[in-house]
Amino acid sequence: MTKIASLEIDGKKYELPIVEGTEGELAIDIKSLRATTGGVTTIDPGYKNTGSCLSAITFLDGEKGILRYRGYSIEELAQKADFLEVAYLLIFGELPDNTQMAKFHDDIKAQSHVDEDIKKILDGFPKSAHPMGVLSSLTNALIAFNPSSVNVDSEEEMYQAIVRILGKFPVLTAWAYRKRSGLALDYGDDNLGYVDNFLKMMFKKPSGEYVSNPIIVDALDKLLILHGDHEQNCSTSTVRIVGSSHAGLFASVSAGINALWGPLHGGANQAVIEMLEAIKEDGGDTKKYMAKAKDKNDPFRLMGFGHRVYKNFDPRAKIIKVAANEVLNELGIDDPILEIARDLEKEALEDPYFVDRKLYPNVDFYSGIIYRALGIPTEMFTAMFALGRLPGWIAQWKEMRLRKEPIGRPRQIYIGENYRDFKEINDR
Ligand code: ACO
Repeated sequence: MTKIASLEIDGKKYELPIVEGTEGELAIDIKSLRATTGGVTTIDPGYKNTGSCLSAITFLDGEKGILRYRGYSIEELAQKADFLEVAYLLIFGELPDNTQMAKFHDDIKAQSHVDEDIKKILDGFPKSAHPMGVLSSLTNALIAFNPSSVNVDSEEEMYQAIVRILGKFPVLTAWAYRKRSGLALDYGDDNLGYVDNFLKMMFKKPSGEYVSNPIIVDALDKLLILHGDHEQNCSTSTVRIVGSSHAGLFASVSAGINALWGPLHGGANQAVIEMLEAIKEDGGDTKKYMAKAKDKNDPFRLMGFGHRVYKNFDPRAKIIKVAANEVLNELGIDDPILEIARDLEKEALEDPYFVDRKLYPNVDFYSGIIYRALGIPTEMFTAMFALGRLPGWIAQWKEMRLRKEPIGRPRQIYIGENYRDFKEINDR
């Protein structure tokens, strides 16, 4: 039976339908509220309690610490699948069989090159440019080299647009790193897997051979899977809202990269390592930084702690913490900042300030430690996150377009000046 919500405004009653999701989530459908009430809208800055869409891609329950892509648990996917399989799952809804997987990978490889002129654009950036700025600019620049807009009603055109961006994006990500490192730009090797090939594009030295390391490939596969999608977060909502104006996939993803860059979102993984390093340089006194994080007069926040949705634990953080220990052990790396991270986590989990506010380590608290162990420099961390999130952005963009969602355009409540007469400049 359809559930109904009743609302009373100034003594007048209204009934609003309730939408129920497949996991029993309830939402009051307010689409008709403004029209039926003669102008009443809702207000929810930061969209803390606003559902912007119906989606069949990712389910998460922040209270129970559940994260599932297309119904499959993140724990099982991280353990048993590789990144490209998960990308296929997110985008097309089902896990691929061997034939589908081979075709998908072949089609991506066929697109794993960019126009030589892209190099000229990259050349124009100073070496010091942040890789996220470079990546968003180059992704946007791809529009100029692939100008035809996608007919989203054509399955084949949609598929081609998807493999095109999946093929080109790792090249741009690796090149953003190589530019910064002063290394000659390099293409990968079609004989390698998607993640291994990316590592080759990043790390192959002009004078030496690239040697695959299965520990590094596995760890990166896992990290990218964990970042694959996270329903309507800031960057994904950005991708959907930009795409809702029917801007293309490259433009939408480029906007998503910019949203991800901020330190409250994807930029947190870089901020975590910078924070841990600063604590180490300052003598390793974690208690001092705990006090700073709790001091309302101090802008310092414990980076990598807290999450808009997870109020119990972040399941990705659990997987990453174990993976960080394993990778460091297997690679024989003794990283002193891991010790500082463990101390901070222990102190925060016992501190009433963090307990009361339900602040737990998030996915980024340990991811930077693994990236460091893999030889990826700090300023590349957020770009790695973007590489992992790309399938999620694509899946969400595709879903939004195929569901024929209307252009995204929130309302506001105006709190500015009421009408006033214009004064000539000499009378002001
Ligand atoms: N350190 C100290 N205090 C914190 C922290 C933190 N990391 N996070 C939240 N708080 C406090 C706030 O000061 C606030 O306290 P108050 O109620 O006394 O005013 C309370 O906890 C609630 O915080 P909000 O900012 O309202 O929570 P919100 O859900 O809006 O923000 C966010 C979530 C942005 C992730 C926040 O916890 C934060 O800034 N964390 C650090 C940055 C970070 O790690 N971001 C990565 C998020 S995961 C991702 O994007 C992949």
